[in-house]
Amino acid sequence: MARRDLFGEEWGEAPVATAAEPAAAVGDVRKTYVIADEEVQALKGVTKDFPAGRVSTIVGPSGSGKSSLLRILACVDRPTSGSVRIGGREVAELTVRRRRALRRTSVGYVFQNPIDNLVEYLRATEQVDLAARLRGVRVDAAEIDRLLGVLGLTDRADHLPVQLSGGEQQRLSFACAVVGRPAIVVADEPTAELDSASADRVLQAVHDLREEGVAFLLSSHDPRVVQATDHLLRLEHGEVVESW
Ligand SMILES: Nc1ncnc2c1ncn2[C@@H]1O[C@H](COP(=O)(O)OP(=O)(O)O)[C@@H](O)[C@H]1O
Ligand SMILES: [Mg+2]
Repeated sequence: MARRDLFGEEWGEAPVATAAEPAAAVGDVRKTYVIADEEVQALKGVTKDFPAGRVSTIVGPSGSGKSSLLRILACVDRPTSGSVRIGGREVAELTVRRRRALRRTSVGYVFQNPIDNLVEYLRATEQVDLAARLRGVRVDAAEIDRLLGVLGLTDRADHLPVQLSGGEQQRLSFACAVVGRPAIVVADEPTAELDSASADRVLQAVHDLREEGVAFLLSSHDPRVVQATDHLLRLEHGEVVESW
């Protein structure tokens, strides 16, 4: 079915994952940042498929390139070179308009810093509602309440971001990323701010949505996340040192 987002931009057919086509894939992706005269090679040729309906986790020490790779997979940044495919389409070959529509409709993204995901003047329910609309999906109030309940935020439904703890902001950001079930959910250290009960709620939601076919692309240091993952990519200094 053709989907339109809030801005009326159409992303043709919603990407349908098939056995032959992973939800996302990178091929020999390199990323070099240039600040003043300094070059930082953050990714040095990363190749990996990320299947639909599976949880893939990127691990590695701080500075190894996890966030850089996730930003590229979420189409919020571009590689210096290499191939990025989402739902079987080469992202670089899409027009700007199509790429934007793809990002809005098909990819939920949770930034590493929870507050960066939220609009400062919207209450929790409004944040989730806006995220759904941007994705071109209508959800009713009951569905938003259900999602907030799953994530342990029922008592925070009318709160503004500044009134939430870091962990609550992180769970609300996660709710915004998954509402309307995008094909791919990219979450950078999604349990970093969470105590173990809250992390369990997020992991349960990941598990349930995975059953519905959502591909999760996570980064994490959290043994609970790594234990629950189907696939793993370990980076060191921008290079793949383990992949399964
Ligand atoms: N926007 C940027 N500009 C310059 N250097 C960056 C930028 N983002 C990340 N880096 C550098 O790229 C490397 C990888 O960073 P990052 O992807 O954030 O790793 P991780 O998420 O594993 O900690 C680090 O050396 C970091 O300093
Ligand atoms: Mg990071």
